[in-house]
Amino acid sequence: MADYKWIDHTYDVVVVGAGGSGLRAALGASQAGLKTACITKVFPTRSHTVAAQGGISASLGNMGEDDWRWHMYDTVKGSDWLGDQDAIEYLCRQAPAAVYELEHWGVPFSRTEDGKIYQRAFGGMTRNFGEGPVQRTCAAADRTGHAILHTLYGQSVRHETEFFIEYFALDLIMEDGVCRGITAWKLDDGTLHRFRAQTVVLATGGYGRAYFSATSAHTCTGDGNAMVLRAGLPLQDMEFVQFHPTGIYGAGCLITEGARGEGGYLTNSEGERFMERYAPSAKDLASRDVVSRSMTMEIREGRGVGPNKDHIHLHLDHLDPAVLHERLPGISESARVFSGVDVTKAPIPVLPTVHYNMGGIPTNYHGEVLTKVGDNADTVVPGLMAVGEAACVSVHGANRLGSNSLIDLVVFGRAAGLRLGETVTPGASQPEFKPEEGQISLDRLDKYRHASGGTPTAKLRLQMQRGMQNNCAVFRTGEVLNEGVEAMREVYKGMADIGVSDRSMVWNTDLMETLELDNLLCQAAVTVNGAVNREESRGAHAREDFPDRNDETWMKHTLAWCDDKGDVKIDYRPVHDYTMSKDIEYIVPKARVY
Ligand code: FUM
Repeated sequence: MADYKWIDHTYDVVVVGAGGSGLRAALGASQAGLKTACITKVFPTRSHTVAAQGGISASLGNMGEDDWRWHMYDTVKGSDWLGDQDAIEYLCRQAPAAVYELEHWGVPFSRTEDGKIYQRAFGGMTRNFGEGPVQRTCAAADRTGHAILHTLYGQSVRHETEFFIEYFALDLIMEDGVCRGITAWKLDDGTLHRFRAQTVVLATGGYGRAYFSATSAHTCTGDGNAMVLRAGLPLQDMEFVQFHPTGIYGAGCLITEGARGEGGYLTNSEGERFMERYAPSAKDLASRDVVSRSMTMEIREGRGVGPNKDHIHLHLDHLDPAVLHERLPGISESARVFSGVDVTKAPIPVLPTVHYNMGGIPTNYHGEVLTKVGDNADTVVPGLMAVGEAACVSVHGANRLGSNSLIDLVVFGRAAGLRLGETVTPGASQPEFKPEEGQISLDRLDKYRHASGGTPTAKLRLQMQRGMQNNCAVFRTGEVLNEGVEAMREVYKGMADIGVSDRSMVWNTDLMETLELDNLLCQAAVTVNGAVNREESRGAHAREDFPDRNDETWMKHTLAWCDDKGDVKIDYRPVHDYTMSKDIEYIVPKARVY
């Protein structure tokens, strides 16, 4: 093996990832007087939060009456009862304050005539416990994530968070079950680093790129989730993968749900507004799992549009061009660039596309990572926290409502900052790293750096992505999922013959993509194994062979561990079906009606 050398650093807190949740957590830690490093493989304002379009939910009540309890009701129902209700209560209660904080920090929200934050309708968001739609999604045109990310980066710099940009995190450093830090590879000069910290916060986002067609950036490879699996810790509810109804056909780019919130609607080849049949009340603004399944049914039954009848039309052409210009400028441009459509004149061709991972690293609502020890599935892993899409708090349960992601980032990023302020002592001494600490990272990096097999990384990655797309999609059966399990086994076998052509350490994108593939593959294995195992339909997990939700057997979170051969072990964790406050237990509904 080459003679690798570590450069060591010491911080109170190390945050991995600089998207919305990572920046908010880093900012909170810095504000609490903690020496905080934020390590990120891309420049902070290129993190995938930048691509979030339609908005951030909070019951501000700017467009009509609203109440955080109604938001909570919608989120519990949207989660198909798999969400942890204490965490959901925390999210919905804290949401308005978190949005005002962003406003005061400078997020340029769109405005109403009287100068309040503009809010639009989004799927599944209702007033008075399901009575009718409510406008709860606060928007900065259709570039809300962009506005939030830039503001949070500015604030983090202002509060002296130290950024390590284009550092690729490799592994957690664990000692006797306690997280002591992380290892990282600096991409632009090839140096290797160990970061020592009292607490590490993983904010590494989702793993949408395990699939062929995703709205996620190519950087969304779930690196933190994979670090957790390699450390022998479990991931939670990974079988729940959200398909966004309106990815641009062929390109996969997102067309915001805000387009339907502003009055857009879907049609089939007969020009029919088919959502009226599937969800007579919510129609095009039913929750995403419902709309994605309805679109898939229309295509399967021969009513898709286009020469191959394999997609659906989204109409905005009836809307006032001035509204499109003011509220949906970004997607108007995306439609022109990626599908050649002028949205004022023609419908956009769309198809359900992988968009969000409900599953991730199990945490409590302070952001502390959990594992199962004996019967206690809420055992806190000392020194380790997770926030954002990487985490499974779990506020989204089996299905996330649109615009509940951005609010999750800032509410739980803020909660993590507060917890760090309570639990970490500024400048407290930390044990020195032992020389062998980080060796597993070096072994793995060196193995792939010198891999001389005959299969290029891109080929294996495509094999994995196609396997997941075909065998772990919107509709699932045991048979198809078992083929998916086999398909991932084949990709694992293929890793033994992988070939990396660039042996350097500087800007070696071939090696980085190989490490990312290795990260994606264990998550793909956990996802498809979890999906085979869960013999019911719930939220985004629609089993045609088990079409009903089965609360008696399956009202529980999946916990999954994965070894280095891709063998997955499954156990469970109880759903928190209790709220933080006794007085709101009554709001949790028992039936699911659209
Ligand atoms: O449709 C959208 O704008 C996406 C929002 C979300 O996923 O929360």
